[in-house]
Amino acid sequence: MNKLTQVRVLFIGAGRMARAMISGMIRQRGAIDWEIHVANRSNSVRLAELVETFRVTAVRDWQTTASQADVIVLAMPPDEHQPVLRELAKLVRKDQLVASVAAGIGVSGLQAALPQGTQCAWMMPNTAAGIGESMTLCAIGDSVTEVHRHRLLEILHGLGLSFVCTEQQVHDLTAITGSAPAFAFQFAKALEDSATQFGVDLHDARHLVGQMMLGAAKLILTGQDPLALAAEVTTPGGATAAGLAVLEEAQFTTHLQAAVDATNRKARSLSAKSAEDA
Ligand SMILES: NC(=O)c1ccc[n+]([C@@H]2O[C@H](COP(=O)([O-])OP(=O)(O)OC[C@H]3O[C@@H](n4cnc5c(N)ncnc54)[C@H](OP(=O)(O)O)[C@@H]3O)[C@@H](O)[C@H]2O)c1
Repeated sequence: MNKLTQVRVLFIGAGRMARAMISGMIRQRGAIDWEIHVANRSNSVRLAELVETFRVTAVRDWQTTASQADVIVLAMPPDEHQPVLRELAKLVRKDQLVASVAAGIGVSGLQAALPQGTQCAWMMPNTAAGIGESMTLCAIGDSVTEVHRHRLLEILHGLGLSFVCTEQQVHDLTAITGSAPAFAFQFAKALEDSATQFGVDLHDARHLVGQMMLGAAKLILTGQDPLALAAEVTTPGGATAAGLAVLEEAQFTTHLQAAVDATNRKARSLSAKSAEDA
């Protein structure tokens, strides 16, 4: 039996995203034996829960253990990054990988805050990472070696599927893969409410809507054009056509695109603010 490679990962931030990532990394059982250390700011209950659930090691003071990590994942809020990066800049070595999951930070933001040549990456998962179904965007810095690239891809694999792309694409597409699940959940809630109005209980309504959305998603993933798939459901002059006409009259597509634009505008203004605070 091949011996697994042991890689030590330090998470700075022990919240929802760190939990989802750790869960994915442990579940995946790939070619790497992850030795996971986790630090947060002050919430010892949250840290203890991670230790209990995933048998990770809790770290009180990440600065004292950073030097032993192969990979350092920044999983705290964007506005907490600059103070942490200032500390990390004094400690990080060129053989370590520093990856952030924070909205708006950017691989160039990490590189600018850390010593020249630091290996950096920026991952943008969504909440489905917790069930191994995230569509994660990832921009990888120029200094990243093949060894760390492989480790990064193993982490991403634990979260679901990934799309390695440019930093600008991560900025542009975060609204689609990161935020649009919230749009889809609103869509689901509206249908769920309609189903319950017809006397179906909430549990059944949720199941009906969820399975309908899963089936539609799987059809999209066959590669067919969504409009062609819609046409298969729609007899001209029929019942579905009447429903679609109402959506069209309400400018459903225009509003959805406006929601994507608003999300991107806000993300850009937040990342600009974070850079100013540096
Ligand atoms: N949730 C999502 O869907 C999602 C998706 C993509 C990316 N992200 C990104 O993931 C990051 C974390 O989000 P989250 O949802 O996991 O947030 P969260 O649940 O609020 O957790 C944030 C964690 O960061 C820790 N923290 C805050 N400031 C810190 C500091 N200065 N030093 C060390 N630890 C610190 C907190 O510790 P205490 O609890 O002790 O304060 C907490 O453990 C964010 O940057 C977000 O943009 C989230």
